[in-house]
Amino acid sequence: MGVDASLLNIGSPAFFDGPRDFLADTTDLVSGLELEIGPASYEDIEDIYLLESEIEGADGADFVSLTSRWRMFGAGFLTARHGGRLVGYIESCLWDRQLPYFETRPDFFASQHRLGAEKLYIIFLGVAVGCRRQGVASSLLAAISWVGRRHRACRLQAVSRGHIIPLYEAAGFLPVVAMPGFLPEPATDFMLMEHTLL
Ligand SMILES: CC(C)(COP(=O)(O)OP(=O)(O)OC[C@H]1O[C@@H](n2cnc3c(N)ncnc32)[C@H](O)[C@@H]1OP(=O)(O)O)[C@@H](O)C(=O)NCCC(=O)NCCS
Repeated sequence: MGVDASLLNIGSPAFFDGPRDFLADTTDLVSGLELEIGPASYEDIEDIYLLESEIEGADGADFVSLTSRWRMFGAGFLTARHGGRLVGYIESCLWDRQLPYFETRPDFFASQHRLGAEKLYIIFLGVAVGCRRQGVASSLLAAISWVGRRHRACRLQAVSRGHIIPLYEAAGFLPVVAMPGFLPEPATDFMLMEHTLL
């Protein structure tokens, strides 16, 4: 039986046009760990959901939300695998929003996403606990900036938990404005980080 074509939303008709050099560009970009980085497939979502639940617990996105984000912009939803095992992922959308501005409704990103928008916003970036501090997140950030350039975004945006700001700074982001209360996490500071793409 064939795959439902409506599930094959990879976000942009242009993504797989031209040379298929994406994996070559993004494998081992930063890490000492051998990584395979590429767009998530529908089959990856179950693994992503399990990893999201491990990382974020009850606050993590559910399977339906992850699937709808993948359908929204599959080209901006990347996985990192090591030896076949999912070790990290990054989700994004393209929008024109000027943060700080946010709505917590589940369809917020889908309502804002627009191919051709000038900013690529990182919705979430997560790495499996046992694989941290080996450059997986940095590699995913390098890969997503490649996606942003390919979609002619002029800026990357992310909202960082305060203690992770050095991760984004190392990837070329700069702090823009504090976003207190961005998520309902007591004693956590949040900062809007932006990276201009040349
Ligand atoms: C944040 C997270 C994605 C980092 O992933 P990672 O693969 O360990 O990050 P990297 O190995 O690429 O880190 C690169 C650099 O970023 C900084 N960094 C990464 N994690 C950090 C942390 N927890 N505290 C302080 N600095 C950190 C360090 O400067 C690090 O370099 P170093 O290891 O040489 O010191 C991972 O810890 C995670 O999934 N956390 C839970 C989810 C989360 O908070 N996601 C971010 C959304 S705001």
